[in-house]
Amino acid sequence: MRIEVVTLFPELFDVPLRTSVIGRALERGLVEVAVHDLREHGLGRHRSVDDYPYGGGAGMVLRPEPLFAAIEPLREAGAHVILLDPAGERLTDAMARELAGQPRLALVCGRYEGFDERARGLVDREVSIGDYVLTGGELPALVLIDAVARLVPGVIEAESHESDSFAGGLLEHPQYTRPESFRGTDVPPVLLSGNHAEVARWRRRESLRRTLQRRPDLVERASLSEEDRRIVVELRDELADGAGDEDSALD
Ligand code: ADE
Repeated sequence: MRIEVVTLFPELFDVPLRTSVIGRALERGLVEVAVHDLREHGLGRHRSVDDYPYGGGAGMVLRPEPLFAAIEPLREAGAHVILLDPAGERLTDAMARELAGQPRLALVCGRYEGFDERARGLVDREVSIGDYVLTGGELPALVLIDAVARLVPGVIEAESHESDSFAGGLLEHPQYTRPESFRGTDVPPVLLSGNHAEVARWRRRESLRRTLQRRPDLVERASLSEEDRRIVVELRDELADGAGDEDSALD
């Protein structure tokens, strides 16, 4: 997979793309990222990329010419072009999985107060990482790169994203490691039992419990088996009684 980024601040990508899982994926050539400086397409001696908004108002707006000059060649090379913008479609796990199947992505980072509306016509989709406004599209682009690159085959163990939160429409079950007992809280004995079927059943139940407690909206939309549904009824009763609240000790 190859990801192109168009930004006025290429240096913001240096450390995140050199670090940890994503750094290793790039080093191993599983994912390639090329960062393009929008200013190279700036106009005039000062390589200007922005101007005052027509109609007045605060802030500056990115002009269309540099955006077109930067994006058009990437489009022509076959990239799926994404504009990072708070008005875009919300990034979800499902969208990340869909994007991970694209051989080429181009991520366009907005800045200042926005960009000329005509630039929207150049992109395949607009993506937001959440209902809040950041100073630019660079951090959202990094979030998208991280969410997508970890799904590229070989970047992490496949099993690990099969059990991710959201993967099956539910939040992930709780995890424990050593020590067995820590400050008065023990690891649930089933996890030490070596009984894989029991462990899987416990994990499914705790995944359902956590999702019911924290994101009941996801439970409504998840595809649940008959057995899951039976557990959900039980858990709802338990939660209504205030019993079995696994999060309460930590909250
Ligand atoms: N640019 C500024 N805020 C943003 C957000 N929440 N998502 C995507 N791009 C943005």
